[in-house]
Amino acid sequence: MAEHDIELSVNGTAHELSVDSRTLLVHALRDELGYTGTNVGCESSTCGACTIHLDGEAVKSCTLLAVQADGRKVTTVEGLAEDGTYAPIQEGFQKEHGLQCGFCTPGMMLAANDLLARNPDPSEEEIREAIEGNLCRCTGYQNIVNAVEYAADHMDQEVAADGGSETVEGE
Ligand code: FES
Ligand code: FES
Repeated sequence: MAEHDIELSVNGTAHELSVDSRTLLVHALRDELGYTGTNVGCESSTCGACTIHLDGEAVKSCTLLAVQADGRKVTTVEGLAEDGTYAPIQEGFQKEHGLQCGFCTPGMMLAANDLLARNPDPSEEEIREAIEGNLCRCTGYQNIVNAVEYAADHMDQEVAADGGSETVEGE
């Protein structure tokens, strides 16, 4: 199995790592770099638990190879809060009781932030459409929709999508 040296910028921190050709991005993030907020549910692009942002766009990280993310910017759920302050989408999930077990929540938040970056004032239908690739076993979705609406009402045009300033780990 061929090894590849790649660089990933995750939540504003640059990482250098070696991965197998077949390593999925979700496994590189969780197992190699410790960003365990990104969950693994199905590994077949069905559940959305592994949703992250790649260069600002929501993608399922189980459907990409780590080598495909070489040199690109990743945002995980760990990158949403800034200086210890929750992002509007996190506050929304908290205030509107948008989670129970929380397994789907990181993916839901990243999918929702992608929507809000494109459409800051989405309708309920647009929110439901944006999260239809993210499965929740617990909540019945209404509180999740309420959480996204809360975020839309509380964000100042800016979605925390790409992390902060860049620092290189291990150098
Ligand atoms: S683990 Fe990626 S979509 Fe389910
Ligand atoms: S809160 Fe449990 S799966 Fe969504």
